[in-house]
Amino acid sequence: MGNRRSAPVASGVVADLFQAPKGTRDILPPESDRWQALVAVFAEVFGRAGYGLVQSPMFEDIGVFQRLGEGTEVVRKEMYDFFDKGDRHLALRPEGTAPVVRAFNQHRPTVLWKVWYLTPCFRYEEPQAGRFRQHHQVGAEAIGSADPDLDVEVIALQHDFYRALGLSQLSLRLNSMGSPGDRQAYAAQLAGWLGQRVGELDEADRANAADHPLRVLDSKRERTMAVVADAPLITDCLSEEAAAHFVRVQAGLDALGVAYEIDPRLVRGLDYYTHSTWEFAAGALTSAQNAVGGGGRYDGLAESLGGKPAPGVGFGAGIERILLAADAEEALTETAGGVDVFVVDVTGGDAGRDLTFELRRNGISADRAFDARSMKAQMKVADRSGARLALLVGEDELESGVVTLRDLRSGGGQSALPRADMVAEVAQKLAENEAAQ
Ligand code: HAM
Repeated sequence: MGNRRSAPVASGVVADLFQAPKGTRDILPPESDRWQALVAVFAEVFGRAGYGLVQSPMFEDIGVFQRLGEGTEVVRKEMYDFFDKGDRHLALRPEGTAPVVRAFNQHRPTVLWKVWYLTPCFRYEEPQAGRFRQHHQVGAEAIGSADPDLDVEVIALQHDFYRALGLSQLSLRLNSMGSPGDRQAYAAQLAGWLGQRVGELDEADRANAADHPLRVLDSKRERTMAVVADAPLITDCLSEEAAAHFVRVQAGLDALGVAYEIDPRLVRGLDYYTHSTWEFAAGALTSAQNAVGGGGRYDGLAESLGGKPAPGVGFGAGIERILLAADAEEALTETAGGVDVFVVDVTGGDAGRDLTFELRRNGISADRAFDARSMKAQMKVADRSGARLALLVGEDELESGVVTLRDLRSGGGQSALPRADMVAEVAQKLAENEAAQ
């Protein structure tokens, strides 16, 4: 029964107490406040650069993801695929790029098409710290131009996004996979080189040496890493055009003050990359899962999904890992959660209902207690809510048409104010509070 537990239900029957599936998490308040803050920063940074939000289905025809390449782990081993009642073979999205390119092919928007997204991704991986079966990404894609300056724009915006979150201990590794021809030639050269050393590789990597040599380069197994340290490098196999592209990307990052390190062994897990590939890692994360976002150019993907040729570039960044890095750096701690005002009504609930909505309809965040509880019990809820101010209504207030305004943060000072002035007075008090911070 895995991690399921049982709990008695009213009838005396014992029902299963279900848990979230292995490798998934519930994101609850106040943690979800940080998610919202992160997404708001992302939307702001990319919105300011002309990127619009794209939303596409959570599942696609499995073919959309199979085109990511058969050397790709997410395709070979990790896909959540199923047949629907109409016998269609579908899969939950393991990543965000293929669905965006599928949508691009289908709708043929005017290029340059610049979009961003927020999406869950599903991969049947072995869960560990920072690795989930459902994780979430914010990402951006720019489709319709092969200009290396577009690579620079996307990388620099990703960098600025992390900065805007307050993260500073990040490093950026950059590589070029060259043109599709360069990539193929390099893979063949590498396969030949590995073929002569296959016995020295970690056993788990041997099967990949001939057919998926780039995966071997990506291996985190020590024996294999020691062997591939001397392997030929893609950066030595770049065509003139690909080398020029790479130089221009580096010049752009230099000009914009985005620090990076060239890593010719950076082979990302997806097979669609051409030219630039990169990965940001969080220095504050000690686990092996320290990549907080990666991306690259994918000039052949639109065609392999049945569309017209359309070069593109983009990245995805894992929200869970970014928040782990933010924890480690003590960033993103101030997020707006909870409400500003809590209404306590011990006269039966009419005033509580009406005043709370009057505040909300005037743009002030407000909450109240339910179940006609005692003053003491309601004040407890008010304190727990984190509200700055409480509005109290008892029989005396009700009779004289006033409400009592109590400051919950500065030692509990309080004053009575006419009900008609409530919204204006509360707004002013909140503004004063804000200014004093
Ligand atoms: P990816 O490197 O597979 O790239 O994933 C992007 C980011 O998602 C990773 O850097 C990491 O932060 C997070 N991530 C991936 N798998 C997991 C997991 N199992 N648990 C937690 N976080 C995870 C892509 O998905 C590409 N679509 C990126 C891209 C966009 N390339 C071009 N455009």
